[in-house]
Amino acid sequence: MTERTLRVGMLGCGTVGAAVVRLLHEHGDDIARRADLRLAVTRVAVRDVERDRDLPLDPSVFTTDPEAVTLDPDIDIVCELIGGIEPARSLVLGALAAGKPVVTANKELLANAGKDVFDAAGDRGLDLGFEAAVAGGIPLIKPLKESLAGERVDRITGIVNGTTNYILTEMSDQGVTFDEALADAKRLGYAEADPTADVDGFDAAAKCAILASIAFNTRVVAGDVYREGIARVTPQDIADAARLGYVVKLLAIAELEDEAISARVHPAMIPATHPLASVRDAFNAVFIEGARVGQLMFYGRGAGGDPTATAVVGDLIDVARDLVTGGWSIGCTCSLDRRIRPMGDTRGQYYLNLHVEDRPGVLAEIADQFGRNGVSIERVWQEGSGNEATLVFITHLAQEGAFQKTVEELRELSCVRAVASLLRVEGEEG
Ligand SMILES: NC(=O)c1ccc[n+]([C@@H]2O[C@H](COP(=O)([O-])OP(=O)(O)OC[C@H]3O[C@@H](n4cnc5c(N)ncnc54)[C@H](OP(=O)(O)O)[C@@H]3O)[C@@H](O)[C@H]2O)c1
Repeated sequence: MTERTLRVGMLGCGTVGAAVVRLLHEHGDDIARRADLRLAVTRVAVRDVERDRDLPLDPSVFTTDPEAVTLDPDIDIVCELIGGIEPARSLVLGALAAGKPVVTANKELLANAGKDVFDAAGDRGLDLGFEAAVAGGIPLIKPLKESLAGERVDRITGIVNGTTNYILTEMSDQGVTFDEALADAKRLGYAEADPTADVDGFDAAAKCAILASIAFNTRVVAGDVYREGIARVTPQDIADAARLGYVVKLLAIAELEDEAISARVHPAMIPATHPLASVRDAFNAVFIEGARVGQLMFYGRGAGGDPTATAVVGDLIDVARDLVTGGWSIGCTCSLDRRIRPMGDTRGQYYLNLHVEDRPGVLAEIADQFGRNGVSIERVWQEGSGNEATLVFITHLAQEGAFQKTVEELRELSCVRAVASLLRVEGEEG
């Protein structure tokens, strides 16, 4: 049988795109052996065609007109690596309308306009691969969609943003502030000049939406995900956590309880013994809990050109195989319309550090406030005395809304000088 060559048209050739081109070039023979086909990049749209990219491509393949890629009748597969919602959305829809399957690494597109692109792909029976959109080189989408298709996933807890994990690791190891750790992350290239998408949790929220959508068969969009970033995490929080045997991480959590989905991104204390606690620096990990499979953890490099390119090329090979065999991989899995639980209705455990007046009756006054809101205290202790007096609480599982109301009411009490620190606690009571 003659080995077929499929022609790939790329939209974007930056960090990931360039790594995809190199990988296809360097592993071309391996891919041919494994998949019985070759992938040739024959058209590439970029903004600047003059730039020297030092890639094994003829300069004539480059164009500034993305539609010259998506609409080129000689292109078999379109690989979208531009990023952002527009023009990526219109270009992907254009490629699908032209009958071309698509591979993308674009979490923003899928978490905000996923329905448009999945519907377009589904209507035409075309593949849409997006393994690289969540946690770069870590295989997650196929394991969730395929390997775990027979499982009921209860909960996904992920460290899915390398920048924030690097910053929190630095704060924890060096005792530095958030601003100092962020400056360091920028200097080392772990954070962008504008770090908003990472530190405010937007990047993690988009990934959380994608994971929740697949795990719970319901369209969850980025706007459905409750989001808090790490800018308010203090060295005090980290030190308190360490003293109590916890580590502070930015977590993306997607869980299904009583047929309602909770999707949220926020910093949280997790026990130092939890598998996610040992995920340091810019690494990512996703912890999946299922009814029968128990606990699974996927760990690795969640970003970077080369790791992400492996996921893109894996998808390209899958799509190419389907083109050759006439197959069609699993498309949109959002077959249900489960309710999204508002953050106030979720349940969690909380850590609260209050600066208080050091006089008789203060603890009773504060405990009374907890009790009136139905928040029960698991542990409480006093540290320091006089003007330095601090009360530290860890609650049992409580409703988020009731806990937040308690904190607001505590702020009003004359015996409470300040709410020094407040963090959710994950991975303890279940
Ligand atoms: N970087 C990572 O580690 C990583 C990890 C996982 C997923 N992703 C995702 O992968 C995608 C690509 O990320 P990246 O880091 O490779 O981005 P990047 O380095 O900024 O590259 C973007 C590419 O798109 C081209 N481009 C931008 N606007 C265009 C337009 N209107 N028409 C044609 N070309 C255009 C740029 O052209 P020029 O080269 O001429 O500027 C550049 O080649 C994003 O969706 C991102 O979220 C990235």
